[in-house]
Amino acid sequence: MTQDELKQAVAQAAADYVAANAPAGSIIGVGTGSTANCFIDALAPLKDRYRGAVASSEATRRRLEGHGFPVLDLNDVDAIPIYVDGADEINAALHMIKGGGGALTREKIVAAVATTFVCIADGSKLVATLGRFPLPVEVIPMARAHVARELAKLGGTPVLREGFVTDNGNLILDVKGLSIADPVAFETRVNQITGVVTNGLFAVRPADVLLLGTAAGVRTLTVG
Ligand code: 5RP
Repeated sequence: MTQDELKQAVAQAAADYVAANAPAGSIIGVGTGSTANCFIDALAPLKDRYRGAVASSEATRRRLEGHGFPVLDLNDVDAIPIYVDGADEINAALHMIKGGGGALTREKIVAAVATTFVCIADGSKLVATLGRFPLPVEVIPMARAHVARELAKLGGTPVLREGFVTDNGNLILDVKGLSIADPVAFETRVNQITGVVTNGLFAVRPADVLLLGTAAGVRTLTVG
């Protein structure tokens, strides 16, 4: 199977998971990226069953609205039973690196509200140790140089994502050369740097379910 076919398979599995587990009339959290786009397309036939969706980026909002999904402001929402999103890397503890698409902060906010985080990924995303994919860090523009110096002290090589501004009006530093032995501690440490909005480690709040696309089919992984 091609990588695109694996993405479509996990997206359909996620739509089936939502249909089985999210109550009618509830609000679905929707992530960002090419795998999340496949999920939006797979969820579209079910849109009348749900009150609407919360989007983790402007691109996702546009795609949802293109399918006729009402998109709600998170501040008007009390509960999100299920959030579905992709990842750039994920480990066996369901800690992730996210933010390849630059939507990490809004993704982390929606994930914080959601009861269940369902990660959808093709098999190439499952790794033993996080860090080969450069860690995205969203930074307030005036703090860019300071944050870059502090990230270098932590052992990484920060590279400014050229020509990119987040939906929040900020910059992204992609930190190369990391091997992250303790994702919870590293996520917390990076977020303590003044000027960091958040970083793309999702370990303090990991995924609850991983739907992993493999040549043998979609595997469902949970922790514990
Ligand atoms: C966007 C993300 C995406 O979930 C991540 O980059 C994976 O994207 P794709 O499904 O296109 O591989 O975190 O900010």
